[in-house]
Amino acid sequence: MAAKALTLLLLCLVTVCNCMEVTYDSRSFMIDGERKLLISGSIHYPRSTPEMWPDLIKKAKAGGLNMIETYVFWNAHEPEQRKYDFTGNLDLMRFLKTVRDEGMYIMLRIGPYVCAEWTFGGFPVWLHNLDGVKFRTANDVFMNEMQNFTTLIVDMAKKEKLFARQGGPILITQIENEFGNVEHPYGEAGKVYMNWAANMAVSLDTGSPWIMCQQKDAPPIVINTCNGWYCDDFTPNNASSPKIWTENWAGWFMSWGSVRPKRAAEDVAFAVARFYQTGGSLQNYYMYHGGTNFGRTAGGPYITTSYDYDAPLDEYGNLNEPKYSHTKQLHNLLMSMEKPLTEGKVTHIDFGNGAEGTVFVDGQTTSCFFSNKNTSSDALIKYQDMNITVPAWSVSILPDCQTEAYNTAKVNTQTSVMVKRENGAENQPSALKWSWRPENLDVAVIQGKGSIHASEILDQKVLNDMSDYLWYMTSVDIDEKDPVWGTNMSIRINGTGHVLHAYVNGEYVGSKWAKYDVHNYDFETPVKFKPGRNQISLLSALVGLKNYGAFFDDYRAGVCGFVDIVGRNGDEIVTKDLAGHQWVYKNSLHGLDNQLYSQTSKFSAKWQLGYLPVNRSMTWYKTTFKAPLGKDPVVLDLLGLGKGYAWVNGNNLGRYWPSYLAPEDGCDDECDYRAKYDASQCNYGCGEPTQRWYHVPRDFLSATGVNELVLFEEFGGNPSQVNFKTVVVGSACGSAYEHKTMELSCQGRSITQIKFASFGNPMGTCGSFKKGTCEGSKDALSILQKACIGKETCSLVANENIFGPTSCADSPKKLLVEAVCAI
Ligand SMILES: *[C@@H]1O[C@H](CO)[C@@H](O)[C@H](O)[C@H]1NC(C)=O
Ligand SMILES: *[C@@H]1O[C@H](CO)[C@@H](O)[C@H](O)[C@H]1NC(C)=O
Ligand SMILES: *[C@@H]1O[C@H](CO)[C@@H](O)[C@H](O)[C@H]1NC(C)=O
Ligand SMILES: *[C@@H]1O[C@H](CO)[C@@H](O)[C@H](O)[C@H]1NC(C)=O
Ligand SMILES: *[C@@H]1O[C@H](CO)[C@@H](O)[C@H](O)[C@H]1NC(C)=O
Ligand SMILES: *[C@@H]1O[C@H](CO)[C@@H](O)[C@H](O)[C@H]1NC(C)=O
Ligand SMILES: *[C@@H]1O[C@H](CO)[C@@H](O)[C@H](O)[C@H]1NC(C)=O
Repeated sequence: MAAKALTLLLLCLVTVCNCMEVTYDSRSFMIDGERKLLISGSIHYPRSTPEMWPDLIKKAKAGGLNMIETYVFWNAHEPEQRKYDFTGNLDLMRFLKTVRDEGMYIMLRIGPYVCAEWTFGGFPVWLHNLDGVKFRTANDVFMNEMQNFTTLIVDMAKKEKLFARQGGPILITQIENEFGNVEHPYGEAGKVYMNWAANMAVSLDTGSPWIMCQQKDAPPIVINTCNGWYCDDFTPNNASSPKIWTENWAGWFMSWGSVRPKRAAEDVAFAVARFYQTGGSLQNYYMYHGGTNFGRTAGGPYITTSYDYDAPLDEYGNLNEPKYSHTKQLHNLLMSMEKPLTEGKVTHIDFGNGAEGTVFVDGQTTSCFFSNKNTSSDALIKYQDMNITVPAWSVSILPDCQTEAYNTAKVNTQTSVMVKRENGAENQPSALKWSWRPENLDVAVIQGKGSIHASEILDQKVLNDMSDYLWYMTSVDIDEKDPVWGTNMSIRINGTGHVLHAYVNGEYVGSKWAKYDVHNYDFETPVKFKPGRNQISLLSALVGLKNYGAFFDDYRAGVCGFVDIVGRNGDEIVTKDLAGHQWVYKNSLHGLDNQLYSQTSKFSAKWQLGYLPVNRSMTWYKTTFKAPLGKDPVVLDLLGLGKGYAWVNGNNLGRYWPSYLAPEDGCDDECDYRAKYDASQCNYGCGEPTQRWYHVPRDFLSATGVNELVLFEEFGGNPSQVNFKTVVVGSACGSAYEHKTMELSCQGRSITQIKFASFGNPMGTCGSFKKGTCEGSKDALSILQKACIGKETCSLVANENIFGPTSCADSPKKLLVEAVCAI
């Protein structure tokens, strides 16, 4: 009896809701009346795998975050109208619960327009093809579908009790996304739509506040927020709203043919410190983990498969140092100042020349931020009886207004140089035995057969985007009555993208592709047309649908322009326009339709061994391999290949295009972070493939069994150098200013060598450190060797007690070390 009563009592206790009330004012969000400083990071669940989620989220928490943000990807979840997919890495509820179980809050940005360099900005293409639909404006067809999907997501989260009011982790939800940036061209109807969206969202009654980012005219029922590299100057449109930075761009994305962007840790920290100095209550790193655009999810057009973003966690989930730890130290410090920052009395001081001070007084505690926005001059600030030097483009934080606990320009953490590591002889290129088969092109290039007929050239989206590939086919009769008869003939095609492969009478005649931000190509090549009937078959390949801009959904993709036969007779030019001809359309490719990448494909036997063709377009390759040992992230090296897709055990790793090189110029050897960042600065990788390495998540692999790799090569390439490697820390460069602790870690492997160590005023970047003009009297190298070699981690305080007195006088001293990790 007593036991039963106890069980009942326990049941009551667990069913009692742990409900939280979320409110806010101009200073901060409050949970059950208690003020919260929120530091968040974006992790998009489909850009990693469920097996990666717990580790990524744990690392985010260890990095000092208390909130995770994600978008919701409509076109991934509803690929066909009312047919849903929430499995695998689309299991949104599992992702949200993983965040909850780590004790973190959630900002859920439903959109459902998300931009995100995701194909079509997250909109399903079937939606574009509904009768009478107009996107992102007062249009019933669109609004019904948007409401239907938004409601579905909210209902799913409610059912799982994930909203704060239900005791769950979701504190904040977003409707629409950066609509304010493009609202003007939509006119009054755009404004009506925006207000409708806000009201629709609020009517879903989640109990959590709704935000709209980049929406100055957002109605009072939602909070408008800021996106950008800096948001210190932002003020919400309502004096009683908190200051929220929904997207702090931790780096930038890549497009095919671009260099690789890098945003310095010092600058990211500067932007974050400035934001909280100026009254910020919530900032979110976009991205904290960028991850990978698997399959066909990359948008753009021309966004790469890697979505690394130079985020604090790299594409594979490794710590991107120094960004990860430099911001972690800042987060921990800010969190320790939560009370003064969210409820202290605030005073601003202008010191001139770009220097500003902010003092937060909370009871007995006085905390100071001193910032210097000057890009070239360090500031000497006199505050009370102190002289404080604040380096150019930096913020110093003094939690007691006495001692500098942190300066954004002073990195007291290691820089890691990541390397791709060989992992056992069985992964050498020579160990991979390849077979191959041609893509069967006959139906398209010889027979010209397809399922759709139209007497016009159609937008490639017409077939609901079920494949990257669409055949545009027509036939043309040429006889002596034709003006082009007897001339030198060529075929000329102007298309809106993205990649074109042209065939005439069964023969390949050439290819062309548009570039990122150039929305069409102009292709012309001489062709010997024959008298009588000629078959023209054009294969168009998408490289991600446009995801941004006013009316971006109307931007046509495919062979949308003109298709002409151009006849040249001396200086005279005659053209034969084929646009109004009878066109036949055929979706996808034979090998994709028949799933040649799947181990269960009925065609799996018909692969050829022995002689391996190279530089052959439209070719399938297959091999088996053993997974690299251990747990380090695995990458596939596709150098030597052209463009196509790669699958491991049937999982699509995304589009590959290692033959697309970045420009030779536009990279900086040394990057000066001391100025407003934009994506044109601090780039690297000039002259190299934009993306050579492709992530193979460990859970795509069988650790002990045989794994299968299938490539579809569209342009022609040579797979003989393909291999698998793991990504690990190759060398670690420690940095610590005087009295700070220098910590080194090879992340699980041992330190084998110390290449450089100096305490004084050494200089340079990791890999090319040089001694300065003053140095401690003891031999720093042997001190470091003794402390570190053979260990996985080591730490030492940078001071004269350890390294001996220096002759550096008043100039700031620091310790720099370069260590090599075991291979
Ligand atoms: C979405 O639309 C379908 C009809 O297509 C309807 O059955 C369903 O109830 C709608 N869902 C919501 C949440 O409105
Ligand atoms: C500001 O927001 C509050 C609700 O938080 C609302 O009552 C008030 O009307 C808004 N003010 C303006 C000027 O929109
Ligand atoms: C930066 O400092 C220099 C020298 O002190 C001064 O001339 C310049 O005006 C300052 N720039 C800004 C933007 O304050
Ligand atoms: C601050 O600098 C001034 C000269 O600019 C000097 O007179 C004063 O002694 C310094 N104060 C401290 C505490 O070092
Ligand atoms: C191709 O078409 C686009 C628009 O569809 C146009 O802007 C461009 O000038 C055309 N190029 C040529 C060479 O005609
Ligand atoms: C075709 O091109 C060839 C080679 O350029 C030239 O010799 C010939 O005269 C051209 N024919 C006509 C009809 O323009
Ligand atoms: C591959 O073939 C193309 C034409 O089909 C040719 O232009 C190119 O030089 C070839 N590349 C190699 C590496 O053989």
